[in-house]
Amino acid sequence: MNREHSVAADREQAVTDKVLASFAKTADPRLHEVMGSLVRHLHAFARDVRLTEREWETAIEFLTRAGHITDDRRQEFILLSDVLGLSMLTVAINEPKEPRATEATVFGPFYVDDAPEVPLGGDLARGAVGTPCYVSGRVLSVDGTPIGDAVLHVWGADDDGFYDVQYSDDHSAGRGWLRVAPDGSYRFWTVLPTPYPIPHDGPVGDLLTATGRGPMRPAHLHFKAVAPDHRTLITHIFVAGDPYLEDDAVFGVKDSLVTRAEHHSAGPAPDGSHQQEAWASMSFDLVLVPDGDR
Ligand code: BEZ
Ligand code: FE
Repeated sequence: MNREHSVAADREQAVTDKVLASFAKTADPRLHEVMGSLVRHLHAFARDVRLTEREWETAIEFLTRAGHITDDRRQEFILLSDVLGLSMLTVAINEPKEPRATEATVFGPFYVDDAPEVPLGGDLARGAVGTPCYVSGRVLSVDGTPIGDAVLHVWGADDDGFYDVQYSDDHSAGRGWLRVAPDGSYRFWTVLPTPYPIPHDGPVGDLLTATGRGPMRPAHLHFKAVAPDHRTLITHIFVAGDPYLEDDAVFGVKDSLVTRAEHHSAGPAPDGSHQQEAWASMSFDLVLVPDGDR
């Protein structure tokens, strides 16, 4: 290293050291660890790319735009975390290591707390437009025991690729929760998922465009499975054959979650109903890890 280089390196290191020292009185040891590591990595990143002042300004403008577009219906910061793979990395870090458990994936921004209860076998599409889809399976513990008191929360987009909360009226469709049967089985009707773009009319969309990436997610249906004495599972099932399975804008696809959709003509369905139009079916078991297991 020549002298000029070493003066610059010393000056830069002095900034990092001062900032690290400023956290010395942090009472919470975990906060101390997290802030120290954040500063070390953030500073290393700025040094690595030799961050210019103009680029720093661009980043601040980007985050400011993300803040302005965020409200209680739109969360641009989660979207940013999603397209940077931070959401999926956090899922991976925290997921149970039990190989028999259903794999988890990204939560996404479209879950709502007060979705209606739907009876077992009922229709949670409730007006969402799309091909009727009969979804069934079982909720099991990793040793194969059925979990008869599990609750499933389910949400999905309609055929136009929109969740109910993306419409400006306040209607609720394509979502609901149900109690599974005592033998752990579940079934419900919804609409067959189709691929859709993540919201891309904001700064995150601009970032995708600038980096030559697309906004699409492969067709999927979201599940949150909650059961006593088990870890809550947040996952999706993806539709096999979808063109975006290898190219999910938020990196959420796991092979074990890809599920075949069977297509059927109008006629009798497994629940004894007679379908007036073509319909589809998907079947998937959800396997949960007991609390305390890794
Ligand atoms: C979703 O699947 O609902 C979703 C996930 C991440 C970002 C946007 C949407
Ligand atoms: Fe989704």
